[in-house]
Amino acid sequence: MIEIRIAEILRSGEPDESVKVQGWVRTKREQKGFAFIEVNDGSSMAGLQVVVSENVPDYENFLKKVNTGASVEVSGVLVASPAKGQRIELKADSVTVYGEADPETYPLQKKRHSFEFLRTIGHLRSRTNSFGAVFRVRNACATAIHEFFQERGFLWVHTPIITASDCEGAGELFSVTGFNLKDVPRNDKQEVDYTKDFFGKPTYLTVSGQLEAEVMAMAFSNVYTFGPTFRAENSNTSRHLAEFWMVEPEMAFCDLKGDMDLAEAFLKHIFKYVMEKCPEDMEFFNQRIDNTVLATAENIINNQFERITYTEAVKLLEKADVKFEYPVSWGSDLQSEHERYLCEQLFQKPTIVTNYPAKIKAFYMRLDDDEQTVSAMDILAPKIGEIIGGSQREERLDVLERRVIAQGMKPEDLWWYLDLRRFGTVPHAGFGLGFERVVQFMTGMGNIRDVIPFPRAPLSADF
Ligand code: 4AD
Ligand code: MG
Repeated sequence: MIEIRIAEILRSGEPDESVKVQGWVRTKREQKGFAFIEVNDGSSMAGLQVVVSENVPDYENFLKKVNTGASVEVSGVLVASPAKGQRIELKADSVTVYGEADPETYPLQKKRHSFEFLRTIGHLRSRTNSFGAVFRVRNACATAIHEFFQERGFLWVHTPIITASDCEGAGELFSVTGFNLKDVPRNDKQEVDYTKDFFGKPTYLTVSGQLEAEVMAMAFSNVYTFGPTFRAENSNTSRHLAEFWMVEPEMAFCDLKGDMDLAEAFLKHIFKYVMEKCPEDMEFFNQRIDNTVLATAENIINNQFERITYTEAVKLLEKADVKFEYPVSWGSDLQSEHERYLCEQLFQKPTIVTNYPAKIKAFYMRLDDDEQTVSAMDILAPKIGEIIGGSQREERLDVLERRVIAQGMKPEDLWWYLDLRRFGTVPHAGFGLGFERVVQFMTGMGNIRDVIPFPRAPLSADF
């Protein structure tokens, strides 16, 4: 007897093989003298059809208990399926119900539920076809990411989740404290006395592992992080989470061009890998969620991304034959309607916008010779908007110090980061990929809360 996952049985199981499967019941159909049950163990979209005849021990009792949602174990022999719809099915010799699911109260009955409703049952929604497909694709994306970097000799480094610095300087930080909030120590001026807190200073959940990734790149040349990041931005949108996963490669001896080339090859690799590993799930998304996802994947894999400067982008937007809600002018940040116009209407493919005004970008980005712009790059994706943000980093100590001060930060707080420019500085570059945004892009799922198992967003931290 072999224990085997259902995906493997459906792929390569042969008649007469004895198998044991364990999973959850999706449907039950009773016939005279026997019953069909469909068992799913999460390994594939399709479940295994099990035929249980009335000769199987305890049949009557089993039939009563085996409703949608119940957990079962079935042992038996594979037979070629006479019916259309599946190649092979399982003829049960023995059946066990581990846990029943009351048909009156089990929320996932055999009908289509809205994603909004499924969000309210986050502990059960992974048992649906849609979320099964999403989380298998999410897993494949993560594997593709590690494969891409490991094949290229990048070191996976683990950067801290608790930090004292605000990498992006946007002030969107969640505080971390050991204080009892009912009795917070204060100094003579009645300010919170952080010297008495756990770390002796204010600390936060990290918004990005970049600064520490730069430290590691200055020893290992090419590194990447892949971990959770946190932003207390109060954006209730379909593209923002308060807790999301970010992938941040950092490369020594690399400029903006190298950064863009790597980012483009990286996205192509992820799409290729997922198309290869999850064809059934991708087909499902194309049929049920967004009928452009397969074409989009082909487009990503086979075409070069568009590359334009911010200044060119602004000119194109000013000339555009559409009325934007927010006006465009050189110096202001691109709004999502502008980003979408560029990559959806104008170029119809991922678009890399480079050299943004220094004033609207983070302190660490390398100042261009004109001193007006920085060597930044954002990759904009159709329907998603910004999927990657990156830059060449400022490697010149004096310029970096100036930029830190200009952005209202204190050089002494960043002494270790500035030290990297004192001891063996090199041109270097990196970027951050929003992991959930790439899963969204891949699957066509409309809301980012539906591509992470347990979404964290304003007023939402259930499960
Ligand atoms: O553009 P961002 O803020 O860049 C950084 O954090 C840099 N330190 C990255 C680097 O150069 N190493 O964020 C990077 C990406 C964005 O392009 C977006 O895809 C994603 O992270 N992102 C979010 N995803 C979900 N929810 C949010 N609230 C996000 N904020 C950013
Ligand atoms: Mg950004």
